Amino acid sequence: MADIELDAGVDPAFRDDVLAGLATRPRAIPARWFYDLRGSELFEEITELPEYYPTRVERSILAGNAGALGDAIGPDRAVVEFGSGSSAKTPLLLEAIDPAAYVPIDISGDFLRESAEALSADFPGLLVHPVEADFTHPVPLPGSIAGMPKLGFFPGSTIGNFNPPSAVDFLRAMKETLGTGAMLLIGMDRVKGEDVLVPAYDDAAGVTAAFNLNLLERINRELAGNIPVDAFRHRAIWDDMLARIEMHIEARRDVTFSVAGQRFEMAEGETIHTENSHKYGKRDARILLRAGGWTMVREWTDDADQFALILAEAQPERSAP
Ligand code: AVJ
Repeated sequence: MADIELDAGVDPAFRDDVLAGLATRPRAIPARWFYDLRGSELFEEITELPEYYPTRVERSILAGNAGALGDAIGPDRAVVEFGSGSSAKTPLLLEAIDPAAYVPIDISGDFLRESAEALSADFPGLLVHPVEADFTHPVPLPGSIAGMPKLGFFPGSTIGNFNPPSAVDFLRAMKETLGTGAMLLIGMDRVKGEDVLVPAYDDAAGVTAAFNLNLLERINRELAGNIPVDAFRHRAIWDDMLARIEMHIEARRDVTFSVAGQRFEMAEGETIHTENSHKYGKRDARILLRAGGWTMVREWTDDADQFALILAEAQPERSAP
């Protein structure tokens, strides 16, 4: 089959992931591809939904524990934020700990520079140095923060998007990026009842459905696809054994379509797996961090223990016995 020309500016890795993901069984496309401009807007809308508690709760934990965070972390660190996106929670942290520098790392450069500039204006005297990179691998940090003790910041429970083995690899990569003596402040969503979890990922207003289905729209827009989006529905499923919410795109009927010149067929009820969101109980979170080279120092939660903000320190490579 002819390999058709795609628009300049389309990430070839997106095409490769989509074509490979539609061809394998079970079909799956990595969650990172949700975040085109429209997807990022829809995610911002999700964070404001009544059912989607994580953003609201994490923000209130940050705001309600500024003093304790400042005491536990101390001033003059270089804050390195992984996957900063719009940096919406960053001001709360910067105000609490009074750091010397802020280094947001993100794959998407435009958004990164814009939010770094806005932050710079609000925190005069803070050294702000954005880095455009894939933060899932060790990233060389700017020379300007070389001598400073580091604090990694990974809010939002985005660690939940990784399968546990990849989460461990990623925690190790963060440790390598940040170096010895580093600390890490990471958000993790707790395991809780299906009655709360499923609506958080399948809201009444249908915003999460639109977010999930936008992936098909993006494929149509960027990869010369002709997927009939109305032939699909959003599904959010809690898998208790794997302790995760799975999001899928399910065919409502038998459907054929093509993407980048390749034809695909899906039978009614077949799905494309688009996201995992792992949840971690109190002890689960600690053992995950330890496996990734970090030891928990303190944690802060909300009254209902829905979400945890965990402070950890880089564990020495060898500890006896
Ligand atoms: C941005 C990965 C933390 O898993 O809760 C929200 C993404 N997906 N609703 C999450 C998401 C559906 C979100 N993270």
